[in-house]
Order: sequence, then C-alpha cells, then structure tokens
Amino acid sequence: MIIVVANSKGGVGKSTLAVHLAAWLHEQGHSVTLADCDAQHSSSDWAKEAVPGVKTVRLTDPDEIHDRLPILGQEADYVVADGPGSNTETSRALLLRADLALVPCKASMLEVRALAQATNVLRQAQDIRGGHPRALIVLSMVGKTYRLTQDMKDAATALELPLAKTSLILRQIYADAPGQGAVVWQLGSRGREAADEVKSLFSEVLPESRKAKSARRPAKQIVG
Ligand SMILES: Nc1ncnc2c1ncn2[C@@H]1O[C@H](COP(=O)(O)OP(=O)(O)O)[C@@H](O)[C@H]1O
Ligand SMILES: [Mg+2]
Repeated sequence: MIIVVANSKGGVGKSTLAVHLAAWLHEQGHSVTLADCDAQHSSSDWAKEAVPGVKTVRLTDPDEIHDRLPILGQEADYVVADGPGSNTETSRALLLRADLALVPCKASMLEVRALAQATNVLRQAQDIRGGHPRALIVLSMVGKTYRLTQDMKDAATALELPLAKTSLILRQIYADAPGQGAVVWQLGSRGREAADEVKSLFSEVLPESRKAKSARRPAKQIVG
C-alpha cells in the first residue's frame, strides 16, 4: 500500500506525520519504506535515526516517482511518501500512484480555505482515477482549547474530503522530536500524550494495519 502525505503548503506537518506513520507501521510488524520526496530530505534523515528498521529512499524527480514508486510498493508492505511543499509535478506523480492520501492542515479558517488550492492536484488525480486515491484531512497543530467552528466544518465539507476524527494538538514535543532523532513515543513521559493521539490517529485511519501485540517490534526508548 502506498500512502502519500500531501499538501502543497509547507510547514503544515507533513514530515512529522510521515515519519510517525512510517515508525508506527514498522512497530506493528510491517515492512516499511519511507520515500522522502521533498528536496530538503529532512524526513529521511530523521527516520534513519529514529527507526533504522524503516528503509528510506529519496525520490524527488516526478518521472522517477512514476517509475519507481510501484516497484517500491511491491517490495514493502507499506510505502509512506512524504510530499514536497511546493513542487506540483512531484505531487501529481505521487497522487497518481498512491492508494491513500493524508492531507495535514493547520486548524485555522485561513488554512482550511487555502486547502481548496492546496488540494487541486489531488482532485485532478481523483478525477482521472475514478475517485482514487482515497483522501483524508488531518487537522494538525490544533490549539489545546480549540473548537472546530461551524465555518471550518462547512469549508471542509465543501471540499468533499472527510476529516479524521483524531487531530494532532500543537505540542512542543513534536517540534523537539527530530532534534532528538526520535518519534514522540520514544521520548518517555514527556511524549505520552502526543504518542497516544498520534497512535489513535493511525489506528483510526488504518485499522487493518494494527497487528497482534506479539507481532510488534520492541520500541526504542530515549528518556531524558
Ligand atoms: N502538532 C505539532 N505541534 C507542534 N509543532 C509541530 C507539530 N507538527 C509539526 N510541528 C513542527 O512544525 C514545523 C513544520 O512541520 P513539518 O512536519 O516539517 O511540516 P511540512 O513537512 O509540511 O513542512 C516543524 O518544525 C515541526 O517540528
Ligand atoms: Mg516536510
């Protein structure tokens, strides 16, 4: 299965979501490749440190994505592709090859309105492919006291993209994790709340990917 984390805006939480998803799938016992499709290569460097068992590849050329992504998809149980912030052709190639698109979006009216633009290529891909890839908006960097306003719900509904029930809260630990070469559940008690929410998001989005406890790999722990 090929999962792309896509939003043509930068700084919305794509790499954070992609690395955590790849790490979670790996810990459920699956073979996982993280395809870093952003020219800055931040997610592949981070994933190599945090979850060495996840294979990483850098793919930024659209033709290379078209040609290699399906092969990578056959070689691993899951390919998680971290999309670029701006390159339209790279995004298009990813969305034409993906089975599922997760679209992180900051929880603000301005950002939700901008989603129409940011998901243009996604809609084109769905149009060409008869509705594929299935896509889901994930609200990211949500203020702790935040309530989804009716305006935002209406804007999301107008896009005809479903919204994941679980959102990611704005928490310092997410911003600290790459510097520690870790994912949030490797950071001890400081990371617990973030770990709970991010794992419940993945269980919600990919319920079939959860495996029996005995099949899970032991988790790396960095505490301190
Ligand atoms: N839920 C969150 N809470 C706090 N900071 C976050 C959260 N998600 C991401 N960040 C931080 O916001 C910045 C942008 O996130 P990133 O995942 O790199 O976005 P993108 O890949 O879309 O550019 C990074 O510094 C990251 O650590
Ligand atoms: Mg990124």
